[in-house]
Amino acid sequence: MARRGGYQLRRARSMLVYWHDGALRFCNFASGRTVTGRPITCELLDFFDDWKTSEQAAAQFSSYTRQSVETTVRQLVKHGLLLRKNSPDANFDEKLARQWSSWLPEGSFHFITKDARYVKRTRSVAEWKALLPKKRPELFKSLPKAKKVSLLKLKPPESEFIEVLLKRKTHRKFSPGKLSLETVSQLLSLVWGVRGYLHSPVFGRLIHKTSPSGGALHPGEVYLMALRVKGLRCGLYHYHPQHHELEMISAGATAEKAKLYCAHQSYARSAAALFLMTAVFARTMWKYPNGRAYRVVLLETGHLCQTFCLVATWLGLAPFCTAALSDKAIEKDLKIDGVTESILYAAGVGLPRSASRIR
Ligand SMILES: Cc1cc2nc3c(=O)[nH]c(=O)nc-3n(C[C@H](O)[C@H](O)[C@H](O)COP(=O)(O)O)c2cc1C
Repeated sequence: MARRGGYQLRRARSMLVYWHDGALRFCNFASGRTVTGRPITCELLDFFDDWKTSEQAAAQFSSYTRQSVETTVRQLVKHGLLLRKNSPDANFDEKLARQWSSWLPEGSFHFITKDARYVKRTRSVAEWKALLPKKRPELFKSLPKAKKVSLLKLKPPESEFIEVLLKRKTHRKFSPGKLSLETVSQLLSLVWGVRGYLHSPVFGRLIHKTSPSGGALHPGEVYLMALRVKGLRCGLYHYHPQHHELEMISAGATAEKAKLYCAHQSYARSAAALFLMTAVFARTMWKYPNGRAYRVVLLETGHLCQTFCLVATWLGLAPFCTAALSDKAIEKDLKIDGVTESILYAAGVGLPRSASRIR
């Protein structure tokens, strides 16, 4: 509601203030926008700790002209550092501050890095060489002064497990064939399905899956984007691990959408299915109210993805994974808010170009 002297404004809670290359920077990590300012900007933002108007600010900072205070306030609103009461940005900011209170400021990393620009593959060799720092870090670390112990050079035993392990690689080309629903069911069950339950006197019922999880809390969720699956309508589905069933979110997934989700990487268009991995952070925050636990959530997503790559390889499929994602586009289509639940990682599969079935 507009009042005399302007709108009610408050400082964004999702803010980091720091120096970089000698410049004082103000970053709203919810919007991902950063601007430079002066120390007086801090004082002004401090004044807007709760809802105030620019008229009140002009009265408070009376050693400055009214016009200069109001111009600065307008700039801060424009850059999203001051938020209007009841605006969508203010409501989002409020929600983020509330949901992530125990994981901030460490958790700001999650929001700052959303929708970061993907490194383009289309650069020429010369362009890459001009861009990369001249000195490359060593590929391997060695301790020259340390006493060495030679290890046995063993031939790996003949086993299906070793064969799968050695066969896993990233595929970016697929045959145009369809996956069977049986294959997709196997993948979902072996990677994200419930294998059993644990019972803790303190934490109650906990879940066991093929990948480990900090505190067995399993914050991970997975969504299937079915593009070419026999017997399954193209679309986005949520996988329910307890019931082992798909819950349809929307029909009509397209190859172009798959490309968009993977930050415009062209090869994603020819995948038969994508597996979009999110996390419901509150499950982990509940037991671990410390920002370090954000690492745990990321590490777990890595575990799930490696399990996915190995199971897909075992099933004779061609897997890939990507961290380059259009976060906000995915979250909108999955109907998740990006605060309580957010996309972290994506994997995909197609049928391999040449037959490479292990089983
Ligand atoms: C966390 C993570 C993120 C990755 N992101 C991408 C990506 O955005 N695009 C891509 O083409 N490959 C991506 N990859 C795949 C790597 O490029 C690939 O693993 C690497 O080239 C080694 O090949 P290999 O998997 O066959 O051993 C990613 C791998 C990991 C572990």
